[in-house]
Amino acid sequence: MTILNLSPAEFFALDDFMYFQQDRVDDTVTDNEVKSILEMSKQQGILHILDTPCGYGRHSKAFMKLGHRVTGIDISPCFIAQAQMHDFGDRGQFIQGEMDNMMEEHQFDLIVNLFNSFGYYPHARNIRFLERCARQLKSSGEIVIDTINGATLESSGFMKTVVINKGDENLIIKKEVSGIQYEQGVSLQYTITSHRKDRSCCTTFDVVFYRPEELARMLHHSGFKQVDFYSGLVSDRNWNPESKKMVVVAQK
Ligand SMILES: C[S@@+](CC[C@H](N)C(=O)[O-])C[C@H]1O[C@@H](n2cnc3c(N)ncnc32)[C@H](O)[C@@H]1O
Repeated sequence: MTILNLSPAEFFALDDFMYFQQDRVDDTVTDNEVKSILEMSKQQGILHILDTPCGYGRHSKAFMKLGHRVTGIDISPCFIAQAQMHDFGDRGQFIQGEMDNMMEEHQFDLIVNLFNSFGYYPHARNIRFLERCARQLKSSGEIVIDTINGATLESSGFMKTVVINKGDENLIIKKEVSGIQYEQGVSLQYTITSHRKDRSCCTTFDVVFYRPEELARMLHHSGFKQVDFYSGLVSDRNWNPESKKMVVVAQK
């Protein structure tokens, strides 16, 4: 079958990426992640949360179930349409757009950027994303970033090609280092190919993964005062510099 080459936006507009990952991120996994995020955070009471990018709104839904108000942003119209189907009345608002869309300042208690979704832009725009997050947070508000530790990319096995099979369909994720810059993280070129029953598609894009000290500097520069590191969202949370995962909780 011919493989259609798509831009990242066109590829993410399909549901392929999360279709294959859905079994790995079911409601129980997501509910536990959200419970853990709320334990790590210092915010109290009913929160106003920005979930960016929100995908099909799995974390947003879990936050709303607990009574919180969520605004979700994602570039994929298909995911936004799915997120809008979670029926929690005016507790949820889902917007199709760039994850660094600037909204009203000082309105959120908590911003979450989950499932390796940080570093999708070139370095300068990744900093701009953090600066905008800081401006959108209320004073003492926090951001939680769940990403991969740029310092251990090669030793942790993260660079291995991943193949996810679902019946006779599959998704192949390949990664190659496309640039290493002093104090600006390690850029990986992702090539993602999905083979579905009726079509095969492929896209290529870069993601920057930062070393802990680089991300800490970027967060301080963007207006965050306190920056804490964890090795995962749920299990083995104590920070270990050798860890593959890197979860950052930063407070304004
Ligand atoms: C790895 S998924 C994570 C989604 C969600 N946080 C989750 O855990 O289910 C990455 C998401 O980023 C979205 N995305 C990619 N580039 C984006 C951009 N420039 N602005 C907004 N969303 C983007 C994709 O549509 C996809 O839903």
